[in-house]
Amino acid sequence: MSLTQAPSPVRPKVLVARRIFPEGLARLEEHCEIDYNDQIHPLSNAELANRLADKQGALVTGSEQVGTQALSQASQLQIISNIAVGFNNFDVAALNAKHVFGTNTPDVLTDTTADMAFALLMATARRVCETEHWLRAGHWQNWELGGMLGVDVHHSTMGIIGMGRIGQAIAKRGLGFGMNILYHNRTQLDAATEQACQAQYVALETLLRQADHVVLVMPYSAASHHLIGREQLALMRPTATLINIARGGIVDDAALIEALQKKVIFAAGLDVYEGEPKLNPGFLTVPNVVLTPHIGSATAKTRHGMMNLAIDNLLAGLAGKRPPNLINPEIWKA
Ligand code: GLV
Repeated sequence: MSLTQAPSPVRPKVLVARRIFPEGLARLEEHCEIDYNDQIHPLSNAELANRLADKQGALVTGSEQVGTQALSQASQLQIISNIAVGFNNFDVAALNAKHVFGTNTPDVLTDTTADMAFALLMATARRVCETEHWLRAGHWQNWELGGMLGVDVHHSTMGIIGMGRIGQAIAKRGLGFGMNILYHNRTQLDAATEQACQAQYVALETLLRQADHVVLVMPYSAASHHLIGREQLALMRPTATLINIARGGIVDDAALIEALQKKVIFAAGLDVYEGEPKLNPGFLTVPNVVLTPHIGSATAKTRHGMMNLAIDNLLAGLAGKRPPNLINPEIWKA
């Protein structure tokens, strides 16, 4: 450094807790000193706590549990940015107690995730995966009038539980299929939004009884834990499907496996599981379930969009600006 050059400002230390796309890392390296966990396995709570101890910022995914233990040694942490829209992996009270900002990645994944709900819905109702496996196994002999019958999606009734941005995008897709849309939500939508989605607000029990296809899109919380269990599945039609693109734990997986085995409902399409990436082995024994590995937002464009938004949030917070997607605005002092 020449004597006339200004000393470089101290760069904030940032933990990147999981492998990200190289351009994201390059972007962060321009501004921050990076501690990179170049792995697809999440750090344990103890490792996370240890590596957060000297950091001002962190980029995590929905698999890292950010609670009291992870934050226990974090004396300098200003912001922790989730590469996910759902933030049930964040203990907001623990963040607030440490005065750490938390952020998420809404909007960029809305349409991609709504597409995935429809992909699962179509595959489940029309037995796409089951029949493909059957064909690959060499069972197809003849076209059969009564063979491999599914249930219709078009002009059926879809019941959406959780009518936020993604739920509304799913409803709008349903309109293209001539579907009748029912929804249940913590709060009823305003009349203009209901009109745009042509959706009717009903009680949970009514939705479960009347829908041909039940789609779960609400956040996971203590209140939504096992919202769909044996009792609720029993209310559904024997020809109905259940689609879960929300979070594991909203459905009681053991009860769902039993309902699928006993044909209490027709079929299920699942992208999320209790205790994932572990899977209740019972799912592998029932043919009437379509299983995908939490890929709701997994297109190249959307996953890059999520990463970049998470970095925008992180860099804004580190620069003392209000991050665009702050989840705990109660601790922000303008
Ligand atoms: C994925 O599940 C997300 O919350 O973004």
